[in-house]
Amino acid sequence: MGLSRRKALQVGVIGGGAMLLPIAFQTIGRSQSGSSGKWLSPPMKPFQRTFRTPPTLSPVASNNIAGSNGVQSFTGTDFYQIAMVRASTEILPGTLTEFWTYNGSVPGPTIRQRQNRRSIIRFINRLGNDDKGIPIATSVHLHGMASLPQYDGWAEDLSPPGFYKDYIYPNDLAAPLWYHDHALHVTSRNTYRGLAGMYIVQDNLELELDLPKGAYDLPLVLSDKIVRRNGTLFFDPEELKDFWGDIILVNGVPWPKMPVERRKYRFRICNTGGSRAYNLRLSNGAPITVIGSDQGLLPAPVQTPNLIVGVAERYEIVLDFSEYSAGTSIILRNGELKNHEQYAQTNIVMRFDVAGSAVVDEPPLPTTLRPLTRLDRSAAVRKREFVFERRKGLWAINGLTWDATRSDANPGLNDVEIWRFENGGGGWNHPIHVHLIDFQILSRSDGRIFDYERGRKDTVYLGEGQEIEVIARFGPHRGKYMMHCHNVIHEDHDMMTNFEVGRGGPDPVTTAPPQPLPAPPLVPI
Ligand code: C2O
Ligand code: CU
Ligand code: CU
Repeated sequence: MGLSRRKALQVGVIGGGAMLLPIAFQTIGRSQSGSSGKWLSPPMKPFQRTFRTPPTLSPVASNNIAGSNGVQSFTGTDFYQIAMVRASTEILPGTLTEFWTYNGSVPGPTIRQRQNRRSIIRFINRLGNDDKGIPIATSVHLHGMASLPQYDGWAEDLSPPGFYKDYIYPNDLAAPLWYHDHALHVTSRNTYRGLAGMYIVQDNLELELDLPKGAYDLPLVLSDKIVRRNGTLFFDPEELKDFWGDIILVNGVPWPKMPVERRKYRFRICNTGGSRAYNLRLSNGAPITVIGSDQGLLPAPVQTPNLIVGVAERYEIVLDFSEYSAGTSIILRNGELKNHEQYAQTNIVMRFDVAGSAVVDEPPLPTTLRPLTRLDRSAAVRKREFVFERRKGLWAINGLTWDATRSDANPGLNDVEIWRFENGGGGWNHPIHVHLIDFQILSRSDGRIFDYERGRKDTVYLGEGQEIEVIARFGPHRGKYMMHCHNVIHEDHDMMTNFEVGRGGPDPVTTAPPQPLPAPPLVPI
């Protein structure tokens, strides 16, 4: 069910509708309609604010010294620095809302990197204590990167406030990734409060294709929030089932309007929310052209009437506004999805306002993008099964919850395996994410693998009652990595486990521990 009565009352009191809300919640239930008409946050009109692009982070220094971590080689290194700090931004008109941010921006700054250049990012924790006086410890995970275990954001590799850690990323694959907090049991809170940003790796193949570039290649970072009348973010850490916000943010702006030229745009969609998946559609009924998924470009563009983006999934789309006359407005809508709590305006995401004259001589979209070598069933040396279900008020995998000392799978280095994910319940979906590897989806029990899912994935939407098989090569590193449901409420309570590739890999906690401030210079002189 939706919010508990206790919680409904809490939100109601703060939202100013204490008398009305409990009744409203009873009538919402698990609405499957486009809009319930109900608000938790103070009501607000869509399309009042202009679209904004998150800042792009420049390196503080770069070199061209080639090297290797033993497995992945690089042609040079770019050094970056990100401080985790509190910062305020306007969500409700005229009121500031405090977030926990990367470098003061919501979402965090976008990092754009070239394949096979190494990144070293110093993450400095200056978040201080939470409302209960507990230090806010962090662990940064670059989702989708094949990092060594000690740089992968292991949930127990925690940097307390006043500490920093230099994370090293090999950038061996061109893909739209994102970085976010992964601290044990509080990932939902920390990401909700703002600790998420995009990280885009590109290679020559991608840069040479006739795809929209520069100002026409933009992130769409989606999240849903509840904001109290006084501007503070509402989040109930005791919420054990799901979190559904009623305000949709795109790049930190509620329901923005975006002036677009009459030409093609590439959007890199990333769902950084808690529980909400999106079922995206265009209001004029035009199809959406999908060119890439979690781990980079698809073999060829795919057209779809609607695009489902589960938590942590990324899809890259191209929208062509050249056919529309100036003055046309097209709304990016969010359609119905099973068991999703819908509020007054969660059926809307943003609006594109077409302006200007058509751009002449724009090249057509390429018909082929990045070749994909399909992993064949017969390549697999074993098969494992993981059942995701609710157990005794918690979320479990094969009946078990998180235990850092227990690994639930031990693939040999570079073994190909088939993993079967089963959703043991009918009342919710689980976006399943496996660290380190990229996988291909082999089957879904109701037969529906969408064409846009037929690429390199690292997260898959495991719908109600479904079974999904994925296939992957487990490498290139040895060591312990996490696997979990990316509905972060489920993840925190406690639908997360780990697997160990090979034996004798670096320990994620003791190999490169965080260091106390003050820090020495980031760039060795
Ligand atoms: Cu997006 Cu384990 O993380
Ligand atoms: Cu990940
Ligand atoms: Cu889940």
